[in-house]
Amino acid sequence: MKVGIVGAGFVGATAAYALLLRGRVRDIVLVDKDERRAEAEAQDIAHAAPVSHAVQVRAGGYEALAGARVVLLTAGANQQPGETRLDLLRKNAAVFRDVVPQVRTHAPDAVLVVATNPVDVMTHLTMDLAGPDARVLGSGTVLDSARFRHEVALRAGVDPQHVHAYVLGEHGDSEVLAWSGVTVAGLGVAAFMAARGLPWDDAVRADIDGSVRDAAARIIGGKRATYYGVGAALARITEAVLRDGRAVLTVSGPSGYGVSLSLPRVVGGAGIVETLTPDLTPPETAALERSAAVLREAVRGLEG
Ligand code: LAC
Repeated sequence: MKVGIVGAGFVGATAAYALLLRGRVRDIVLVDKDERRAEAEAQDIAHAAPVSHAVQVRAGGYEALAGARVVLLTAGANQQPGETRLDLLRKNAAVFRDVVPQVRTHAPDAVLVVATNPVDVMTHLTMDLAGPDARVLGSGTVLDSARFRHEVALRAGVDPQHVHAYVLGEHGDSEVLAWSGVTVAGLGVAAFMAARGLPWDDAVRADIDGSVRDAAARIIGGKRATYYGVGAALARITEAVLRDGRAVLTVSGPSGYGVSLSLPRVVGGAGIVETLTPDLTPPETAALERSAAVLREAVRGLEG
């Protein structure tokens, strides 16, 4: 199975590397306007194949995307220190107005997975640019939900694979940590922590919230970009599509709020197979509505 990746920068190259290491794809094509960069990244990643999995990694033009089942859209600028994701909107929207029609021409049947920030607005734009028959989703808050699970697992002393925790709404400052749905080993997190005599109070939750919400700014401040977490998230989403895995992931897509945002979705061969309705508390519902309002305002900025 072939996967295309448009944008051979940190995120796109890391997603390609993550897919190679997981070994569940056969053919990865990197496309970038900087052809030297795409070629260099493809060669560097391909050199890992002999010691990991037999995956063909190559650089090419848009025509090389033909037959791809999934195309990751990672092209565009990333946040600089002090920038919000929404600050990137105008320049990345211009990039996508060039990229998306070319992808659609050469890989009309591919599921498009948007990663470029502001990812929810870029997903909304991609749906417009790609047309009504396209299958489009955004990485949304899959990364944030992973961060949430990581932080809870650290305090619970368990493998994060056994923590379920969702971040909803905008992949950005208004994102909503759905505390009411957090479980550890099938138990509500408060019950789990109490049973283990572990601290669990407003201070702990505030610390986790800050660690999740500010993760990108903190990491960008230290290394100027984030790419391992989002690269792994993109690989996970890609595999759910390729294998019709029906994984429940908080990807960005159409919502009842009139804008693309993240909700728990069943992700399979057709992309978003089903959108689930989380059981939220009234404060969480209000926060999600505020997040949707932020994104509706940002989309209006696109049309401006
Ligand atoms: C982050 C970028 C991918 O949250 O938005 O790290």
